[in-house]
Amino acid sequence: MKIRKLVLIAIAVIAAGFLLIQVAPYGRAHDNPPVAAEPNWDSPQTRELAQRACFDCHSNETVWPWYSNVAPVSWLVQHDVDEGRQRLNFSEWGRGGEGEETEELYEVIVENKMPMPNYLITHPEARLTDGEKAALADGLLVTMGGTAGASSAENESEHDSD
Ligand code: HEC
Repeated sequence: MKIRKLVLIAIAVIAAGFLLIQVAPYGRAHDNPPVAAEPNWDSPQTRELAQRACFDCHSNETVWPWYSNVAPVSWLVQHDVDEGRQRLNFSEWGRGGEGEETEELYEVIVENKMPMPNYLITHPEARLTDGEKAALADGLLVTMGGTAGASSAENESEHDSD
């Protein structure tokens, strides 16, 4: 019976710890600041795909799910959104986040680095087909002022002009 008592104590400690961390203020702000400036989207379809797959972490229009209120998940979600917005924010376009770069944007999509794989487990709607990935990557290229499928050629023309 000693083991049983230990197990009960362990459960009580874990439960108390769980309740205690809910008090931490971090992760509960869930702010969506006003949309300042969006890219000059080449088409409504590009925006739609970006909204589906990227906006939760890279815009000021984050949809905060219920579990984003429950620590410690709330801390992870808050961290992803903070860091995501800092690198690339489709609602504060032109601010110069490091993700606002044609090459970078194209790569993360076609190389399946974004959306983050763990995010897709809880957001199956953000999973893009190969065709949708290509459409989003190409659409973003055109939105950024390039030509679809010609991200490297664009870099060269930048050099020509200096
Ligand atoms: C679940 C949150 C989340 C989603 C959804 C998401 N991202 Fe990200 N993204 C992040 C985080 C966090 C970082 C910074 C850390 C990193 O690079 O892994 C980031 C970084 C980036 C960067 C910068 C990479 C670098 O090297 O600095 C780009 C570009 C990017 N994301 C594009 C996208 C695009 C495009 C989509 C949609 C197809 C998308 N992300 C979806 C969270 C997300």
